[in-house]
Amino acid sequence: MITVSLLSLGCAKNLVDSEIMVGHLHAAGMSVIPDAAQADVVIVNTCSFIDSSKEESIGHILEVHQSRGLRKRRREQKLIVAGCMAQRFSRDLAGSLHDEVDAFIGLDQITTVAPIITGLMAKERGKDEAPANLVTRHSTFIPDYDTPRFRLTPKHFAYVKIAEGCNHPCTFCIIPQIRGRHRSRTVASVVAEARALVAEGVRELNLISQDTTFFGMDTWAERPNPRTPVDSARGTALTTLLRELNAIEGDFWIRLLYTHPAHWSDELIQTIAECPKVARYIDIPLQHISDRMLEKMQRETSGGYIRGLLGRIRAGIPGIAIRTTFITGFPGETEADVDELDAFIGEARFERLGVFRYSQEEGTRAAKMEEQVPAKLKEARWHRLMARQKSIAAEVGARQTGRTLKVLVEEPGVARGEADAPDIDGRVYVPRTLPVGEFAEVTITSSQDYDLLALPPGERPVAFKTARPAQ
Ligand code: F3S
Repeated sequence: MITVSLLSLGCAKNLVDSEIMVGHLHAAGMSVIPDAAQADVVIVNTCSFIDSSKEESIGHILEVHQSRGLRKRRREQKLIVAGCMAQRFSRDLAGSLHDEVDAFIGLDQITTVAPIITGLMAKERGKDEAPANLVTRHSTFIPDYDTPRFRLTPKHFAYVKIAEGCNHPCTFCIIPQIRGRHRSRTVASVVAEARALVAEGVRELNLISQDTTFFGMDTWAERPNPRTPVDSARGTALTTLLRELNAIEGDFWIRLLYTHPAHWSDELIQTIAECPKVARYIDIPLQHISDRMLEKMQRETSGGYIRGLLGRIRAGIPGIAIRTTFITGFPGETEADVDELDAFIGEARFERLGVFRYSQEEGTRAAKMEEQVPAKLKEARWHRLMARQKSIAAEVGARQTGRTLKVLVEEPGVARGEADAPDIDGRVYVPRTLPVGEFAEVTITSSQDYDLLALPPGERPVAFKTARPAQ
C-alpha cells in the first residue's frame, strides 16, 4: 500500500483542499500517515500570500528533501508541491527546486492526486529530468457536496467552502491571480454538505471563500457592480443560503468568515438578525478607512460607506461582534492617513482586530507603486495601531464579566464563544470537566488580554469563596 504524508500550510481554504486530497487518497486505497520520514510520498500544500508564506513553504520543502536525503534515497520517496505557491510559481520553481521536487500540482489537480502519485511511483525519473509540472494555468475547480473529503479539523467544527476564486481588483493581493475568477457552489450542494456535517456531530460550520458576500452573484445574468445592493431579488445570494442553513435541524453555529464590505446589504443584515443559528460575529476585512488609501487599494468602498455600513450592522444585529483587519504602510500612506485610521479604530471599537504591515508582493499592482513606505515606519505605525486596539480589547473583555455565555468546548479546559472564530480569536478558559466538542453554558468571571475565564453558572471562583473566620 502506498503511504502518503501531507503538510497543509496557509489558510482554511487551503486546508479544505488538503482535506479533499486526503479524501481522494483514501478512496484510492492509499494510507495517509503523519510521519513524513516513513512515507512513500510527501505532499506539501503551500501558501504564497506574502513573502514570509513563500519562505515558509520553501523551508518545509527543503526540510522534507533534506530528511529524505538522510533516511531514504530520492527514488524511494517522492515529493509533490501543491497549493497556491505551486499554482502561481511552478514554472519558476521547476528550475530552482529541480533536485528537490518530483511534481508540481495546482488547484485543479487536487481530485486527481491519487493517479498522479501512482504515475510518479511507477516511473523512474531520469537524473536530469525536470520535475513534472502538472499545473493548469487558470483554476476552475469548485468542490461539490459529494467530493471525497476527509476532515482535518476537530470533530466539532468544519470549514465549508461555499465558493472559490475572487473577482475583486485589490491592488495589494495576488490571490485572484492564483485562485481564478469567483465561482459559487449551488445552495443545494452547500446545504447537502452542511446537513451531513451536522448529522456527524459538527457544532460549527465556518463558511469560507475569498468573498462570502459575493456568493451566488457570479451566476446572475447581469454582472453586479460592486456598489449594487446585494439582495436575493436579483438571484441567488448569501441570504438565500443562510436561511436554508438556519432551517437545518440541530444545535449548531453558522459562522460567516471573509465577507467584503462592498457586498453587504440591508437584506443580509436582516437575515443574520432573523437566523438564530448564524453566530453574532462577522469577519469583514476593511483594510483602511482613508479615502485616499481605499482608492489606491481599489477596495470599491469609501470611508463614508464603511462608517454607514458598520452603523447599520450594529443597529440591525444587536450583540454582534465585529472582526476586521487593516493594512498599514501601503504605498503613499501618510501620517494623516494613519491619524485617521487610529481615530477610527478608537471610534468603531471593534471586538476583534488585526493589523498587517503592507507586504510588497511580486505580481501585484501595488508592488509597482511609487512611495513605498520604509519598513521602520511601517513597524512604528503597526505598533501605534495595535496599542490603540489593546485598551479597546481589554475593555471588550471586561464587559463580559458576569455574563452567561454559550461556549463550544475545544479541548479539556478550553472553549470558544460565539465571538471567537477558530484559530484566530481568543479563548474562554473553562473547567476541565466540561465535555469536549459540546456546547456548554458558563459565566464569565474575569478577562485577561484577549481571553476570558469562566465557570459553570452558579459556581463562584475558588479565590473569591469566603472563608470562615478562625475561631
Ligand atoms: Fe490561502 Fe495562502 Fe492561498 S492565504 S488562498 S493558502 S495564498
